[in-house]
Amino acid sequence: MTCFKTSAAALALLACGFGGIAQAQQKSGEQTYKDVCMVCHAAGVANAPKFGDAKAWAPLIKEGQAVLTAHAWVGVRGMPARGGNPNLSQEDFAKAVVYMANAAGGKWKEPDARLMAAIQAEEKKRIAELKAKK
Ligand code: HEC
Repeated sequence: MTCFKTSAAALALLACGFGGIAQAQQKSGEQTYKDVCMVCHAAGVANAPKFGDAKAWAPLIKEGQAVLTAHAWVGVRGMPARGGNPNLSQEDFAKAVVYMANAAGGKWKEPDARLMAAIQAEEKKRIAELKAKK
């Protein structure tokens, strides 16, 4: 069975469709947060909503997962597009947003294909809005 020979555990989980996928993705959101987002969001640099600050995150969580993720991905005021890391994939970015939102009282799920499509639709809308303003 080739699927058991896959060396990376996460890949094997995805390829074989086992449970435990959520856990693998969860870790990835945390890892991306630590690698990319923490530098600003841990201390609240330039008014970034602080990690674990339920009050700061409540209105953001209310915007909805697809909208908030798309807006942050495109960039908003002091928040650089892609968290300032051009190599970051949109899915990893979305997972990091989940990790941060849930640390501040959110109950968001790991992004699935449908959510990623919704994020991309919101991203297009946002870019069109920003262009129209120029
Ligand atoms: C260079 C500093 C910096 C880095 C790095 C950074 N952020 Fe931010 N982020 C900000 C600031 C500043 C804001 C507040 C923007 C505002 O509302 O003025 C913000 C806001 C946000 C918001 C709320 C957006 C909104 O619509 O108000 C989200 C979600 C977010 N960041 C996610 C992330 C994620 C995920 C990462 C890592 C992949 C990340 N940020 C990395 C500075 C940063």
